Amino acid sequence: MEELFTLDDQDSSLSGGSLAALSPGELIDGIKKLKIEKNAVIMAHYYQESEIQDIADYIGDSLGLAQEGAKTDADIIVLAGVLFMGETAKILNPKKKILIPDLAAGCSLADNCPADKFTSFISQYPDHTKVTYVNCSAEVKGLSDILCTSSNAVRIIESIPPETPILFSPDQHLGRYLIRKTGRDMVLWDGACIVHENFDAKNLVKLKARHPGAAMIAHPECPESVLDLADHIGSTSSLLKFAKESDKQEIIVVTESGIIHQMQKACPEKTFIAASNDEACNCAECPYMRLNTMQKIYACLLQETPEVVLEKSVIEKALIPLERMLELS
Ligand code: 13P
Ligand code: SF4
Repeated sequence: MEELFTLDDQDSSLSGGSLAALSPGELIDGIKKLKIEKNAVIMAHYYQESEIQDIADYIGDSLGLAQEGAKTDADIIVLAGVLFMGETAKILNPKKKILIPDLAAGCSLADNCPADKFTSFISQYPDHTKVTYVNCSAEVKGLSDILCTSSNAVRIIESIPPETPILFSPDQHLGRYLIRKTGRDMVLWDGACIVHENFDAKNLVKLKARHPGAAMIAHPECPESVLDLADHIGSTSSLLKFAKESDKQEIIVVTESGIIHQMQKACPEKTFIAASNDEACNCAECPYMRLNTMQKIYACLLQETPEVVLEKSVIEKALIPLERMLELS
């Protein structure tokens, strides 16, 4: 294949119009070539744009990305997701180069739970076990006893002796769902996901009325009033599994709409309806996840930047609760 850009091209050519001028086919070819040259893999979350999912070597939920990240023998991992996912990959692979297409791809849960505030929060509950959702910074991970994702949260909570009080951070809605599911009383940090928190029960009741035969599936980051309407609640991979196995022909999907790409690919005969946060639009897209583009993936592979960098001491502390979680998963 013809060279698109060489490693010497660097920022000047990539920040200008030249990269934007590449056709979708050229971008795909260029990314594939760079992956081979550099022994790199692309790991993508289900909330990425369809074309990013299609070029990925692995697509998964937060748990799957962490598990797969721990196994890979690639030299470079491009984490097409958000920063906390790149940090998780770095904690598990401190010697590998972890690239993230856009360092500004944060997460409302992680960003609103800074390490200093988290430290004063946990200091009020010295007897509690600190269970923290992986949607948090590496520093906050290191201050936690054990981590969880939406896939394994019930199992993690149930592994804690019943007499031990629990602090759950940073997602209050997932926390409330877990309290109901496990019967455990937990103190909750009051964070929320800006995408899932905005789903509105009243709008969803109307949507259900327009599609009386449809199943409704929802992510546990949604508020309780929304979860009460759902026929199935689960992590992104659990929602995908339900979509494949359900005998319903119509499914209302109450999570980030990127997941519908895999649902539609697996079940072309079914109709997936993206629940919307706003009746005027049909969008439930995470603004952080959607910062990633094919151009940025190409550029980050070519230039090997932006790279996820963490201090050794932060990695060592965060690895302990992360490994505890992976052992139980
Ligand atoms: P899962 O993919 O683990 O379900 O998490 C959803 C999410 O919001 C990731 O940011
Ligand atoms: Fe964070 Fe919500 Fe975006 Fe996931 S969807 S990255 S939880 S803001």
